[in-house]
Amino acid sequence: MSGLFAMRSAALSSTRWAVLLSLLIVFLGLFPPIGAVKEHDFKKCDQSGFCKRNRAFADHATETSSWQSPYNIDKATVTFVDGQFKGTVLKTINEQGETVNLPITVSFLRSGVARVTVDEEKRQKQEIELRHDSKVRKERYNEAEQWVIVGGLALDQEAKIVYEDKKQMTIQYGPSSKFEAVIQFSPFSVDFRRDGVSQIKFNDRGLLNVEHWRPKVDKPEVEKKEGEETAVEEPKGEDESTWWDETFGSNTDSKPRGPESVALDITFTGYEHVYGIPSHAGPLSLKETRGGEGAYTDPYRLYNADVFEYILDSPMTLYGSIPFLQAHRKDSTVGVFWLNAAETWVDITKAKGSKNPLTLGIGAKTNTQTHWISESGLLDVFVFLGPTPKDVTTAYAELTGTTAMPQEFSLGYHQCRWNYVSDDDVKDVDRKMDKFKIPYDVIWLDIEYTDGKKYFTWDPNMFKDPIGMGKQLLDHGRKLVTIIDPHIKNEEGYHVVSELKSKDLAVKNKEGNIFEGWCWPGSSHWIDAFNPTAIEWWTSLFKYDKFKGTMENTWVWNDMNEPSVFNGPETTMPKDNIHHGGWEHRDVHNLNGMTFHNATATALLSRKEGEYRRPFVLTRSFFAGSQRVGAMWTGDNQASWDHLGAAVPMLLSQGIAGFPFSGADVGGFFGNPDKELQTRWYQAGAFYPFFRGHAHIDARRREPYLVGEPYTSIITAALRLRYSLLPSWYTAFYEAHRDGTPIIKPMFYTHPDEEAGFDVDDQFFVGNTGILVKPIVQENQESTDIFIPDDEVYYDYFTYAVLPTHKGKKITVSAPLDKTPVLMQGGHIFPRRDKPRRSSALMRWDDYTLVVAVSKDGKSAEGELYVDDGDSFDYEQGQYIHRKFILADGNVLTSVDAEGRDEKAIAEGSWLKEMRKVSVDRVIIVGAPSSWSGKKEVTVESEGKTWTSPIDYTPGAAGRAAFAVVRHLGAKIGADFRVSFA
Ligand code: GLC
Repeated sequence: MSGLFAMRSAALSSTRWAVLLSLLIVFLGLFPPIGAVKEHDFKKCDQSGFCKRNRAFADHATETSSWQSPYNIDKATVTFVDGQFKGTVLKTINEQGETVNLPITVSFLRSGVARVTVDEEKRQKQEIELRHDSKVRKERYNEAEQWVIVGGLALDQEAKIVYEDKKQMTIQYGPSSKFEAVIQFSPFSVDFRRDGVSQIKFNDRGLLNVEHWRPKVDKPEVEKKEGEETAVEEPKGEDESTWWDETFGSNTDSKPRGPESVALDITFTGYEHVYGIPSHAGPLSLKETRGGEGAYTDPYRLYNADVFEYILDSPMTLYGSIPFLQAHRKDSTVGVFWLNAAETWVDITKAKGSKNPLTLGIGAKTNTQTHWISESGLLDVFVFLGPTPKDVTTAYAELTGTTAMPQEFSLGYHQCRWNYVSDDDVKDVDRKMDKFKIPYDVIWLDIEYTDGKKYFTWDPNMFKDPIGMGKQLLDHGRKLVTIIDPHIKNEEGYHVVSELKSKDLAVKNKEGNIFEGWCWPGSSHWIDAFNPTAIEWWTSLFKYDKFKGTMENTWVWNDMNEPSVFNGPETTMPKDNIHHGGWEHRDVHNLNGMTFHNATATALLSRKEGEYRRPFVLTRSFFAGSQRVGAMWTGDNQASWDHLGAAVPMLLSQGIAGFPFSGADVGGFFGNPDKELQTRWYQAGAFYPFFRGHAHIDARRREPYLVGEPYTSIITAALRLRYSLLPSWYTAFYEAHRDGTPIIKPMFYTHPDEEAGFDVDDQFFVGNTGILVKPIVQENQESTDIFIPDDEVYYDYFTYAVLPTHKGKKITVSAPLDKTPVLMQGGHIFPRRDKPRRSSALMRWDDYTLVVAVSKDGKSAEGELYVDDGDSFDYEQGQYIHRKFILADGNVLTSVDAEGRDEKAIAEGSWLKEMRKVSVDRVIIVGAPSSWSGKKEVTVESEGKTWTSPIDYTPGAAGRAAFAVVRHLGAKIGADFRVSFA
């Protein structure tokens, strides 16, 4: 009996058990026990064939003193035309010197980014045989670019060869020709240099590995004779045990194309810190994963998965992946983006005290070595040579896009739980929030609102009048978010599943039949959002007249889109499932969440003829590029102090990886926070870019008004602080939208020269406001230390105390329960709206307050305000106000158009017209010069008129800065003005 038949019949006889077992698994999955994640449900590197093989390859290379990478460029194939180097890498595959052809392209892009792509000729030409009669595509997956890259691919025509001989070619490229790529032919390696100094090296350690196609050769079966103790010796050769199929738990992956991983070592010369590759619950500065003291034992894993109640301080994979990494040392940042959507692992080691100090940058002692390993697809890597963190994030943003301009309301507070049980419940919470004067913008409905987990339907008993509910919310300027997941209940008569099937738009199993698995509704099918026709169909489902009960203030939450499949391997889809275009799920897994998120956001663009508004869709799963689509959150955390502490580094990591619209469940998803924890979590959450309270179905109700005094008042104050700063948050989002900068920024990003701050990841600046926040994440804490990255002056946000700071040192500040440590860095001006209101919509036409934190020289400060209608795309037609405020010489404050536009030349739409009536009401100057003492009024000039406004000056005292408040300034926010304090 052949091996295959033996497997089949064994599978048949165990079918009944398998069904019973999977029912049990599903049953347990439906009611996840409260307790730590079951780590053994997820693979470790040595349970993931290709990861284990590549780690073994790395060990072999490292331990073999004469190791030489078997990859060589065939010089005769090399061309360099119009900024593009092309050739063939020959991989030597045996001692006879046989080779396989791997076409390589190195593209030098106008932005100064270089891109290295390696493919495999045989697969490219489809000259391979698939096993098991599979119908999947034969090529290496080459469509990630189509989903991820939106620009920046224009070639640098100025790039040129500056040196060439038999062994290598040096190409000069980038801004002012500062960059060089030294491509060595034999063995193949690339050294990327800036100003002549090596920054990033490919294949320096010889770990490049492209598993080429080969047919499966059945080895002769070795018969074991009766009575013989040990089997006859195994045939020699490579360990093929994970090449052809691989079993994990109860699932066997059939691998019709055999082994096909790609791996490469990338060394950051002289760099001690690396950041990025979210999402992992660990420190911002990534840890070593092999060998070193305190190192993890597994590589960082990127394989989007439903890892509920994840463990902290771990390289374990989470719900989303962005394979973008930055390396940083004093005054220099570089980065790589590994464009591959298959399961990926990244090993990190730091080689300290290199033998050759000349190869290192001045003052640097460490090389960070990384080893990237993906299961399938092309080898496709982008290289960024900085030199600043912003240069790197901006160049990455040019490729993958920036944060979409959000719906303005989405920066307000979101009130969620699993579940608000009825429309009356929703209306009641809405009324109570008003009664307690607690601002909020959005109330959320989790899966129980549906009729039996059938999305696009309402529970007929509990949600009898969704429109009535929506209207009450609308009256208060509020919104509703309903959850829509990608699994579609497999139930006779449910119109969505009937259409999904009849239109043939679902993901298929390896046999090419509709894939069936289990999720919240029980038996389900999954929309294949890779298919453009599926996106069109999905769009049709969201029309107001199709998804009845929704209206213009209804928005959407996409969850479980990793995808989560309760009875699937590692709680997701089998890798040999098949997607649109014939690609295996293996190839596209990490893109899956983004395609679904994208389908939903696309759908929201056209719910009604003539309505074209910015969508708001929250996603759990994501990939590089998801920032263009909506917001993310960090999934199922726990109501514990440790999880509160873990959130900030995770959100900072999201920001530097280009997806800054991020938050963590405030209060913690699983469990019940005590009052102190809940209060501290609100104070922290008020500074998350996405701010939502959420709770598990088993958790007790915890709306802020239920907590009781003094907690409810303290939480309300945190919420009001958020709301008053909304103009500054919106401006920070605009900056992120414009150039891809993070919204909350870690110290290394804002102060790339201050080494002591490179591993600080528990505090951050908000946009360019100079507001420095250090959330309290420990119990019973009455004070905290804040790291000060420069020698500017720092004021306490609330008391205006001048803090006795020193650059590079920590300072202790008091933090009783009713206080979040927030400082203002001198030299900044930021806008606020101080009138407390119920929702952001009601603040729309409120006047502004400008807060000026005067620099240490006592004379200057600068800041910006960006505002538009917060809803439409009219800002693309210039319908926005963008001001720059400047305090100069300690006596004149001006407001000018930040982009130097002639405002009068802008045709005014209705929003801009109305906005022209809004004024700056107050200016608060913290650190006001003493020369203003005794001053009673200031002169204001604007729109051809001059008037005076009252000013109150309070002299400094006992460590508190002098401050002044100008009242009734009266200048229009959209107009140039000049306030003279002289
Ligand atoms: C998942 C989500 C969680 C949600 C629940 C029910 O666990 O992460 O936020 O409440 O599903 O939909």
